[in-house]
Amino acid sequence: MKYRKKIVIGNWKMNLTVPESTILIQKLKKEMPANIKSEVVVCPTFVDIYSASEELKNSQILVGAQNVAEEEKGAYTGEVSVLSLKGFVDYIIVGHSERRNIFGESDKIVAKKAEIVVRHDMKPVICVGETLHEREDKLSKVVVLSQLEASCKHLTGEEITESLVAYEPVWAIGTGQVCSEAEAEKMAGHIRGLVKSLYGEKVSESVRILYGGSVTGSSAKSFKKSKNIDGLLVGGASLHHQEFAAIVKNFDK
Ligand code: PGA
Repeated sequence: MKYRKKIVIGNWKMNLTVPESTILIQKLKKEMPANIKSEVVVCPTFVDIYSASEELKNSQILVGAQNVAEEEKGAYTGEVSVLSLKGFVDYIIVGHSERRNIFGESDKIVAKKAEIVVRHDMKPVICVGETLHEREDKLSKVVVLSQLEASCKHLTGEEITESLVAYEPVWAIGTGQVCSEAEAEKMAGHIRGLVKSLYGEKVSESVRILYGGSVTGSSAKSFKKSKNIDGLLVGGASLHHQEFAAIVKNFDK
């Protein structure tokens, strides 16, 4: 089986001012366990990306963005271009359920965002996940796979290899209700299966799949051995340096 580097991504969402995030980064740098093999990424707000990337220079922690515009430049008031992020971030989250559900981002938009990110040599973290209603209606697999297929529509096999897929069941986000390892692992298996049917076995063995939704230091442990889960996308707990460091430590291999 292909070696896939583990990854833990902290999504700070619309939290922390620049001074607050500087303090968190300084604490995180001290708290981060030495000799970890996983990649560790934090995703601050756009305003904070520059100072975070300065603060994290020469550290083992990378910087990501929470979103990006689907167009490169032009009359799009309030949007942030991939060109502005280039050089400062390595990863860009696209299609987070908060973007899809609160800001009405469709699969079509998410597909354009994923495409623009890879074309500029950064890595999109493509988020997919079912709502509670969809889960209750036993539609989780159908919803997740159709979101993924539509969201990576413009990507070639080589580009999907450079992309990450985050399975984030909406009912588990910010609710304290973490999805069981068995359920998340099963969905990650379906996701890998879809990538295999679309792009072939080699690509499917390379793509990294993350779980996200109420991850904490203790739940991170349960995902450590998952065959198909290569990373964690962490919201709330990533705002606390000790908890985030515990997640990294407990998930690291
Ligand atoms: P949470 O958020 O860890 O606070 O549930 C996860 C996410 O939205 O990525």
